[in-house]
Amino acid sequence: MSSNSFGKLLTVTTFGESHGPAIGCVIDGCPPGLALVPEDFAHDLARRATGRTRHTSQRRETDAVDILSGVYEGRTTGTPIALLIRNTDARSRDYDDLLDTFRPAHADYTYWQKYGIRDPRGGGRSSARETTMRVAAAVIAKKWLAERHGVRVRGYLAQLGETVPRLPADSAIDWDAVERNPFFWPDAAQVPELEAVMDALRKAGDSVGARVTVVAEGVPPGWGEPIYGKLDAELAAALMSINAVKGVEIGAGFAAVAQRGSQHRDEITPERFLSNHAGGILGGISSGQPVICSIALKPTSSIRIPGRSVNLRGEAIEVVTNGRHDPCVGIRATPIAEAMVALVLMDQALRHRAQCGDVGPVAPRIPGG
Ligand SMILES: Cc1cc2nc3c(=O)[nH]c(=O)nc-3n(C[C@H](O)[C@H](O)[C@H](O)COP(=O)(O)O)c2cc1C
Repeated sequence: MSSNSFGKLLTVTTFGESHGPAIGCVIDGCPPGLALVPEDFAHDLARRATGRTRHTSQRRETDAVDILSGVYEGRTTGTPIALLIRNTDARSRDYDDLLDTFRPAHADYTYWQKYGIRDPRGGGRSSARETTMRVAAAVIAKKWLAERHGVRVRGYLAQLGETVPRLPADSAIDWDAVERNPFFWPDAAQVPELEAVMDALRKAGDSVGARVTVVAEGVPPGWGEPIYGKLDAELAAALMSINAVKGVEIGAGFAAVAQRGSQHRDEITPERFLSNHAGGILGGISSGQPVICSIALKPTSSIRIPGRSVNLRGEAIEVVTNGRHDPCVGIRATPIAEAMVALVLMDQALRHRAQCGDVGPVAPRIPGG
């Protein structure tokens, strides 16, 4: 299967299926000398993991990372970094009912049409289990970006179904609050409300969509390339590659449709930009303002409410999906979206250094906000 790699100077290739023996990735192009030990991966992998709360899938993977190559005495060597995580809690029998069934809105039908064969156990390669390795790879990107450039990439759940954070429109995100609840929700007071929504959904056997927003602070001006390598284009592609993502917005996104030019333009004073509707990107190149992206995630397709579909013989059937599924895939998508943004930014930073490293800072430079 092709298209399992992305990036230009920092490339990431992932491999493995949901219920295979292991999943893994190879990260190539990481500069030498970055301190890296297996413990570095624990925090972000735990944030993405299933089974943290009753509101996500109850599969319980240990997600212990083996560093197979590219690191010597705790430092990257500049050679390919291979990471491996063994699958320890796969229950393939949960998928016996799906062997000849196409779940509506899942990848079953399209994988079958393309390859004429599929691994139905846990969704095989189309399972979000694969995103574990993106999060692992991005631990390296986040660390390099923070140490080398002071860049911080953080995300939060910006909408769950109909529920939106009850915060004033331009209030600063309380990142400590986001980290303290399993929803990555910025308004701690609302968490009981979210719990109630999720409990009702689970009881009904249904699912719901979500919106995740990622903010990258400290990105210097100049990252991104014109035309085909636009920073916003590469972010959109990377974020859209996450399972269940149906929309990507950069900055004001689709709200720009209803804005006037006088409102949308981010006016510049010698001291600062006066707004950030552009989401920190102009002409495909970072402006020095925070890079802001949002994704729309569809509701989980594997639900207990019966739905119509067909089987391998083309006969009409009724599908009911039991087993361990996320009633809202968006809850665990926050660290995955952060990961994709961090990987794109590190790749673009290396590309900027390669072509324009000699240019150096150019005046005037308006501070990012
Ligand atoms: C974090 C995360 C968890 C997911 N968990 C499930 C799940 O438990 N059950 C399910 O049917 N789909 C789940 N999905 C969605 C499927 O992986 C996805 O719908 C499928 O690959 C088809 O791709 P598409 O939705 O992009 O078309 C999850 C997605 C993400 C991002």
